[in-house]
Amino acid sequence: MNFKRLFLISLFIFGITGKNIAQTINPGDIWPDNNGVHINAHGGGLLFHEGTYYWFGEHKIEGEKGNQAWVGIHCYSSKNLTDWHDEGIALSVSKDPESPIVEGCIIERPKVVYNEKNQQFVMWFHHELKGMGYKAAKTGLAVSDRVTGPYKYIHSINPNSGYWPENVCSIHKQPVPETTESSYCGGPGCLPAHPDTVNILGRDFEKGQMSRDMTLFIDDDGTAYHIYSSEENSTTHISKLSDDYLSFSGEYVRVFPNRYMEAPSIFKHRGKYYFIASGCTGWAPNAARLSVADDIFGPWTELGNPCVGEGKETTFGSQSTYILPIEGKKDAFIFMADRWNPENAIDGRYVWLPVQFDENGWPFLEWIDEWGLSFFK
Ligand code: GAL
Repeated sequence: MNFKRLFLISLFIFGITGKNIAQTINPGDIWPDNNGVHINAHGGGLLFHEGTYYWFGEHKIEGEKGNQAWVGIHCYSSKNLTDWHDEGIALSVSKDPESPIVEGCIIERPKVVYNEKNQQFVMWFHHELKGMGYKAAKTGLAVSDRVTGPYKYIHSINPNSGYWPENVCSIHKQPVPETTESSYCGGPGCLPAHPDTVNILGRDFEKGQMSRDMTLFIDDDGTAYHIYSSEENSTTHISKLSDDYLSFSGEYVRVFPNRYMEAPSIFKHRGKYYFIASGCTGWAPNAARLSVADDIFGPWTELGNPCVGEGKETTFGSQSTYILPIEGKKDAFIFMADRWNPENAIDGRYVWLPVQFDENGWPFLEWIDEWGLSFFK
């Protein structure tokens, strides 16, 4: 065989297989889908359904403009968590200027769960109204009968309007003092140190609570929880959803008061709940924070930074988004995080690492350049 023919054959083989096969996870690298295009599903979450994993995330476009939603929520499918097939846009933004999800609004951190009772896929996401920065602090709801969509947008709300949390303090029920103009944490006019003295919970009691960075968690009994940064990001709320997952039940707790946790992610291991979040520094990475509880409604105990080794102070340059239990494997979880690129949003990278457990059973994370699912015994 002459050299030219060999070259053409290898080009052909590479063309049909090479660019699509990623048998390992390479945190922080370009991650090509079945078309050879870098996966576009930022701030994402995973759903395992009938033998397939589905990855939903923010579709970003190039440049700083990509930090707003101009396309929608992108979906990918995979059998093995390394090769991802582009399933297209699951939820599209609207061209209608009257729609709350008009293009140019902010849609972040979508999570999809399956409701057995209604045989329906339910998506919740962080939603900010167009032109209002991060002020609206709402959570949006969309549903579909097909896992890959199209999802129908229902509405966006501030949760638990008219309900006090189970661990409400008497100060929250007192008259609400005049507060400073609310602002996104880290910006000018950031709220004073102790949120209870400002009583943001009481301020928002009637209209509903703020809900920014979020995740969903389904417990073993099928109960769904919506977990979000609330009270100007100062305090996390853990809220039980209704049985159909379509509304808030009014049962919720305030956790980590005044700790400014963002990027919540949660998993359950040997009867304990583990929560990994970040601090509140916008797109810039900071040290992850691990907490543990025997009951999802708490009390929660902070355990410190779960990351070890080089890069531990910045969660290896990333921010948590989801923790995936691997189907059919015991004690196997993947920590998923985003390495944001706010100047060119589409070029954000994915940092996926195995959750490891030390000799005392506490979870930890360490950087691995390249790894595969065989990592889990
Ligand atoms: C991050 C948050 C992201 C996005 C960003 C905007 O802290 O986790 O989802 O909202 O702030 O600055």
